[in-house]
Amino acid sequence: MSERAFYVTTPIYYISGNPHIGHVYTSVAADTLARYHHANGPAFFLTGTDEHGQKVAAAAAEAGMTPQAWTDALVVKWKAICARYDVRYDDFIRTTEPRHARQCVEVFERLKASGNVYLGKYSGWYCTNDETFWLESKLIDGRCPNPECGREVQWLSEDNWFFALSKYRDRLLAYYREHPQWVRPERAYNEMVATLEGGLEDLCISRVNLDWGVPLPGGGVMYVWLDALLNYITALDYASDGERFRTFWPANVQLVGKEIARFHTIIWPAVLWALDLALPERVFAHGWITLEGQKMSKSLGNVIDPFEIADRFGSDSIRYFLLREAPFGSDFSFSEEKVRLRRNGDLGNDLGNLVKRSLAMLVRYRAGRVPTGAHSALGARFTDLGKRAGTAIAALEFREALEAIWEFVTALNRTIDEKRPWELDKRGDTAALDTALYELCEGLRWLAHLIAPFMPTTARGIWTQLGLEGEPHGAWSTELVWGRLEPGSVVAPSDEPLFPRL
Ligand code: MSP
Repeated sequence: MSERAFYVTTPIYYISGNPHIGHVYTSVAADTLARYHHANGPAFFLTGTDEHGQKVAAAAAEAGMTPQAWTDALVVKWKAICARYDVRYDDFIRTTEPRHARQCVEVFERLKASGNVYLGKYSGWYCTNDETFWLESKLIDGRCPNPECGREVQWLSEDNWFFALSKYRDRLLAYYREHPQWVRPERAYNEMVATLEGGLEDLCISRVNLDWGVPLPGGGVMYVWLDALLNYITALDYASDGERFRTFWPANVQLVGKEIARFHTIIWPAVLWALDLALPERVFAHGWITLEGQKMSKSLGNVIDPFEIADRFGSDSIRYFLLREAPFGSDFSFSEEKVRLRRNGDLGNDLGNLVKRSLAMLVRYRAGRVPTGAHSALGARFTDLGKRAGTAIAALEFREALEAIWEFVTALNRTIDEKRPWELDKRGDTAALDTALYELCEGLRWLAHLIAPFMPTTARGIWTQLGLEGEPHGAWSTELVWGRLEPGSVVAPSDEPLFPRL
């Protein structure tokens, strides 16, 4: 892992409605990364809400509320969903906060002063749902070309501020060529290169006839996408060159859904360059959660309520499902049946039963006291597990990390089946029984640390049942040293299974 401080962001979510499981997906991935990195050095995890723009204003109007009252009411749910899923951010930024607006204006002034922003006439088509300007040639039957949208677009003709995006095209292309890892996965990288090769136009960054946004000097408001992108630096106190900014910028990983990769990998880097700032190390455009082949989205109305499924399956089961089901860059479909299979199989049968059986045997044969175990072949076999899983997490290969961890779960279960502690007990083979029981308990200590970034509540549950002090966490290189569990310590098994069968 990198030596310097680690900074990860999620997109800031439109607060035009309630969160759905797609939003939770990105936040859980970011949280897992952040928990891992927090355990290994200074780290910062930013998320928040995108509260300006026509889309939010329209939702508020429909509810008969002012946009501010609407966002104030709704943000409660967006914070609550983080709490419900153990998404432990370091900061939650709302674009309606004064700290943000103030810095947006400062950025605007700096861009103007450096000749990156100029006044011009904007005439063109605008899609409110996507908060995007479209070229006439891109429209499909005169409507928004985004396949999930297809809504009517509005003709706008206004005097507006423009950001000189087009002049960054060659520099962007060169940067892409020199940094093939900067946009991941490869599919997103290739799409962005193709877009750049097709040419760039300057970007209109103000709206004169709107008032729900960051007010700009001289009238109008800032284009909501520029306002939104700036959150990644305003939250760090960029404009006052705050300590957070100096410590954490540039971000190591910016997570986005693939539909908004373009904003983050073409507009955003150009804006950063215009401000003389370094680019994030990596933008990762993850796949979509789909339902019956379509992206889950508020506009399509095919959403899964994340509060409700957390109540039924448990938040950790959903966290596990989201990160285990598919490679992080790929789409995957959501179904309760699939969640149930993971929950009853990997979690209930494999992990839950392992914890229950291991601790029950320790209570039965050693009165709950961890014995001294002789040299363990199992420990030796898995010495590089922390390294393997850590490399996978750092590469955002969550599924691969979980697969590596589950090899260990399987090996521990096999230890029980092969060594048969009940027979060792019957035969009076004390040394072999001690070794087997120690292996199981030490294995559980490892597992608590290993799953901590992915399933924090379950990890703590295992930790408590082991009767250990402190907290399990992702500092695997120091904690996953075989034999650290102290013989003589006493476990505290619970009667409640970790994952009751559904
Ligand atoms: N407000 C903008 C982002 C501005 S960032 C400077 C926005 N908001 S959004 O509410 O539409 O949320 C988009 C993000 O939510 C996606 O990029 C993705 O991270 C997540 N997801 C929303 N629906 C999703 C799926 N169906 N599947 C996976 N992720 C999803 O765009």
